[in-house]
Amino acid sequence: MPTRPIALLLESIHPCADGILLEAGFTVKRHAGSLAGDALHSALAGVTVVGIRSRTDLPCAAFERSTTLVGVGCFCIGTNQVDLASAETSGCAVFNSPFSNTRSVAELTVAEAVCLFRRLFEKSAQLHAGHWDKSAANAHEARGRTLGVVGYGHIGSQVSVLAEALGMRVIFHDIARKLPMGNAQPRPSLDALLEESDCVTLHVPETPQTRGMIGSREIARMKKGAMLINNARGSIVDLTALGAALSSGHLGGAAIDVFPTEPSASGEVFASVLQSCPSAILTPHIGGSTEEAQETIALEVAEKLARFWDRGSTETSVNIPQVDLPVLREGQLRILHVHRNVPGVLGTMHTLLAQAGININAEYLQSNPRTSYVILDVEAFDDHRLLDGIAAMPATIRMRCVKGN
Ligand code: NAI
Repeated sequence: MPTRPIALLLESIHPCADGILLEAGFTVKRHAGSLAGDALHSALAGVTVVGIRSRTDLPCAAFERSTTLVGVGCFCIGTNQVDLASAETSGCAVFNSPFSNTRSVAELTVAEAVCLFRRLFEKSAQLHAGHWDKSAANAHEARGRTLGVVGYGHIGSQVSVLAEALGMRVIFHDIARKLPMGNAQPRPSLDALLEESDCVTLHVPETPQTRGMIGSREIARMKKGAMLINNARGSIVDLTALGAALSSGHLGGAAIDVFPTEPSASGEVFASVLQSCPSAILTPHIGGSTEEAQETIALEVAEKLARFWDRGSTETSVNIPQVDLPVLREGQLRILHVHRNVPGVLGTMHTLLAQAGININAEYLQSNPRTSYVILDVEAFDDHRLLDGIAAMPATIRMRCVKGN
């Protein structure tokens, strides 16, 4: 009986990943923490796919030393912890889950807008300190207030929907043309949005254009008493300028989840100019950190690994050319071939198959400048020497076959 492929899941990945991987034919092994160095290399021996979160680094050596690894699932948003170039040159496909926590960030943002308008954190801090102040001064309903969304992508557009459900008026600014949700209205410039909003919320990626996007000039354009929320990236807002605007009372409050420099682990000391500003809500980069998001991430990445394993699909892979493949018909053999993008590889594969009298039923190909991924569906055959011949081509990086059943 053929041995089952092994999926190794590190860092306590949500258990709902297991069912999908078991269904795809994997034996699932787990390790609660992250691994590094020799312990990582030993754990990877014989492993087909590995699942990690943000605390496990997969350096070049991990790919050089593992002969069996074909896929990596980053059960998180980022993939910085993986040497993607080395994964690519070893033909190992890397997947992640870039948008699974969209809803979590959107909900936090709308909750913070309400908290800021009601001065909830300030009132709570006062009461913790024994000071009873029942005044309604500067407390407002969110209903009827204008929310300015900067960056109308996955998160920004969800914020827009939730805010409208609360009765807010939503305007947005994006560099790309976006279909407005509900009654939201686009604004042609960031300045136009800043001047009109009671609360500005940032949902742009970190790019050269968005670094320092909100500084003293932009803050000065905001309405007196307006609120600013940054749950996007720490480099987007100049916190010194924000602190000055909060202290002077030009801005009424802020909620900040992301910082220019952040501690690398829980328990480390955190320092920010905003700690002296009572009207600032500070959270430790938890915008997307919910149990629901962890579950969605586990389902999404496990499904990507399963589809990659049982039919070869690399759709949404962050390093291997993306091909979405249909389910393989019974009696068919699928040859999955990752190779260096040099001339002649396809021609040689065609010739070798033709010389053996094997017809190609379907062919798929995607390339980047360095690497190509070609998939050939043929009638199943048992000629191992032919497959060995294809695998032995000098440009081959990795080859495997799957059978339809
Ligand atoms: P997305 O890529 O779906 O949307 C970003 C939008 O910003 C796009 O529509 C894009 O056209 C627009 N954009 C880019 N540059 C712009 C500019 N200069 N001016 C105006 N619009 C611009 O991204 P998504 O998923 O909505 O994420 C948004 C941000 O949230 C990212 O920075 C992401 O890193 C951050 N994030 C933070 C989390 C947290 O825990 N606080 C969790 C998840 C994401």
